[in-house]
Amino acid sequence: MIRAATAQDVPSIADLFFRSMPSPWKTSDIESVISSPTMTAWVLEENKIIKCAILLQVCMDEAEILSIATDPSERRKGFARTLLSYVLRDLGDDVNVFLEVRAKNQGAIAFYESMRFFVYGMRKGYYKSPPDDAILMKLTNI
Ligand SMILES: CC(C)(COP(=O)(O)OP(=O)(O)OC[C@H]1O[C@@H](n2cnc3c(N)ncnc32)[C@H](O)[C@@H]1OP(=O)(O)O)[C@@H](O)C(=O)NCCC(=O)NCCS
Repeated sequence: MIRAATAQDVPSIADLFFRSMPSPWKTSDIESVISSPTMTAWVLEENKIIKCAILLQVCMDEAEILSIATDPSERRKGFARTLLSYVLRDLGDDVNVFLEVRAKNQGAIAFYESMRFFVYGMRKGYYKSPPDDAILMKLTNI
């Protein structure tokens, strides 16, 4: 089941991100996303357990994927593909979708490429702790 995240989901999403990323989003940042009018969070759950979560910023005809993570024990089962496909359908065809991803995160880059995103630029030294370049990606509009 895919649904919009609520304030009650914040601890589970924070835990999922903590277990998934080198510098994860803090609980307070996730709370801000859920309460902000320009940001949204969606979760994919099974038996009331969150398997995958995504955070987005949407403004007019532009959207940015802020983060997405699948539970480490549930990877390569299609959860992120299912959730992101749903979110992209919800955004509609006229929205330009962007994201930034760590250059060393080849798994995530491969995932986004499999979802029709392409690399259009790079920001050298953009990330700290650990240091990394940012790869800029955009969804290929149909
Ligand atoms: C990136 C991430 C969200 C993918 O989640 P997932 O649920 O495992 O992805 P899916 O099972 O839906 O994968 C769909 C397709 O993406 C590609 N893909 C996904 N992970 C991949 C990997 N590690 N290496 C290569 N390709 C990958 C494959 O083409 C895959 O299809 P296949 O399994 O049939 O070959 C997950 O690896 C994750 O949580 N990573 C840590 C958090 C992170 O780095 N998030 C991105 C921050 S911007």
